[in-house]
Amino acid sequence: MPQLGLGVWQADDEETEEIVRFALDDAGYRSIDTATDYGNEAGVGRGLAASGVDRDDVFITTKLWNAEHGRVNTLAAVDTSLSLLGLDHLDLYLIHWPLVGHEERLVETWATMIEIQGAGKARSIGVSNFEPHHLDLLAAHTDVVPAVNQVELHPLLQQRELRSYCAERGITVEAWSPLGGSGRGWGGEPHTNQLLGNPTLAVIAEKHGKSIAQVIIRWHLQSGIVVIPKSSRTARVAQNAEVFDFALDDEDMAVINGLDAGRRFGAHPDELNFGAPAS
Ligand code: A2P
Repeated sequence: MPQLGLGVWQADDEETEEIVRFALDDAGYRSIDTATDYGNEAGVGRGLAASGVDRDDVFITTKLWNAEHGRVNTLAAVDTSLSLLGLDHLDLYLIHWPLVGHEERLVETWATMIEIQGAGKARSIGVSNFEPHHLDLLAAHTDVVPAVNQVELHPLLQQRELRSYCAERGITVEAWSPLGGSGRGWGGEPHTNQLLGNPTLAVIAEKHGKSIAQVIIRWHLQSGIVVIPKSSRTARVAQNAEVFDFALDDEDMAVINGLDAGRRFGAHPDELNFGAPAS
């Protein structure tokens, strides 16, 4: 799995097509992260098809939406995603959210993900927004450990306990909203992005002649975290991939590690049931 990928949450289907094509052809990306809920799997598929990059050289991730938990729905959902993407297999299929109060169905959904992997429709399977207790639940009922846990993770929310838990079990941690997100999309008031305007990060960025976004992405890379920054703008998509020509030193890393404030821009997994079936 490439350690850097392109995220496409909040990009509409049309712009996704062009941004995916650009990312693959012109910016060197080899990993795209989408989800059924984003409504742009078809755009990802068209962008991939329009690019000059072989499908086998690209790592495609999508996610099962909350409304589709349970065996029958999950089996249908993966086929729909594959059809929209124009693919015969995914590289990674994730359960998007664990949901609250649906433990039995969650275990059934994970067992179905295992079935999907066995059928060759997903090379790897994993989860998103899982806390240790959700992972413990899967471990108690199945013998397949998720390959990946994709969670909100950035310098203001460093998820140290969760990262240790995952490291002990060989689960790769992947960061969503690595740049602090767009400030929209969670209901309520939009937030101002405290990461891209962070004065401490600005000093480090200045020192390296890089942008704050590049410093943040580099911090993820050097921390061993898979990272999928989103942008709908070609210049930023290109900029976010120009992170392999410099390195943060120990002092930079220590300063950024010290920014952890438990600041969540998105929802806590133990509180989100959006889109879930009633029972
Ligand atoms: P846009 O799509 O208009 O470029 P995250 O990856 O944390 O979800 O953050 C993505 C947000 O940060 C989006 O709102 C995106 O806006 C913006 N963004 C992405 N890359 C950069 C960058 N290099 N500089 C400034 N803003 C960026």
